[in-house]
Amino acid sequence: IRDFLIAPSILSADFARLGEEVDNVLASGADIVHFDVMDNHYVPNLTIGPMVCEALRKHGVTAPIDAHLMVKPVDRLIGDFIDAGATYITFHPEASDHIDRSLQLIRDGGCKAGLVFNPATPLSFLDHVMDKVDMILLMSVNPGFGGQAFLPGTLDKLRAARQRIDASGRAIRLEIDGGVKVDNIAEIAAAGADTFVAGSAIFKAANAADPHRYDSVLRDF
Ligand code: DX5
Ligand code: ZN
Repeated sequence: IRDFLIAPSILSADFARLGEEVDNVLASGADIVHFDVMDNHYVPNLTIGPMVCEALRKHGVTAPIDAHLMVKPVDRLIGDFIDAGATYITFHPEASDHIDRSLQLIRDGGCKAGLVFNPATPLSFLDHVMDKVDMILLMSVNPGFGGQAFLPGTLDKLRAARQRIDASGRAIRLEIDGGVKVDNIAEIAAAGADTFVAGSAIFKAANAADPHRYDSVLRDF
């Protein structure tokens, strides 16, 4: 049996009260903080960077922070996120000129490294780096925005990624990101995912006036 982790994407949180939002989802049972970094170049949106990651650590967040870099180039920001206290650092292979080097940079910095696959990016990017990957993140939407619908073709890709992980014999996490909801998470888990990013399903579902606003949402997950 696999251990399942829930990773709320703070992309859908209230950025004006970010520390409180993160405290609340963690207190309600979330496992990992999914931290979406967008640069208005690799993806058509602009979000948060290493200073905000560092601010969450200073605020007292001790849970793993899963920095999903949707930026190009990636290497300089990798160093900044290592210094800012990220736990996982994942990047898109198309955004790195030297995939092996970027993975090595992350691991040399003491962080866990991952590759992210857009819906049309083939898993063959894993062929020669499987021993340097701690996480595989499959995008089930095209990256850039929260609140999009889960692309069903991702289920077959999850099964293929799960086979690669099992064949490697390594404890690589298989994360899914985009359109994950309470009503499709069981099917996604059955296809092989063990780490579930959910943004709008968690942060938009809650009543902002309720101090325990994320309890019932996370219980459903
Ligand atoms: C999209 C981001 C996701 C996004 C998911 O580019 O990587 O993490 O926040 O949002 P939902 O869960 O709303 O699809
Ligand atoms: Zn993400």
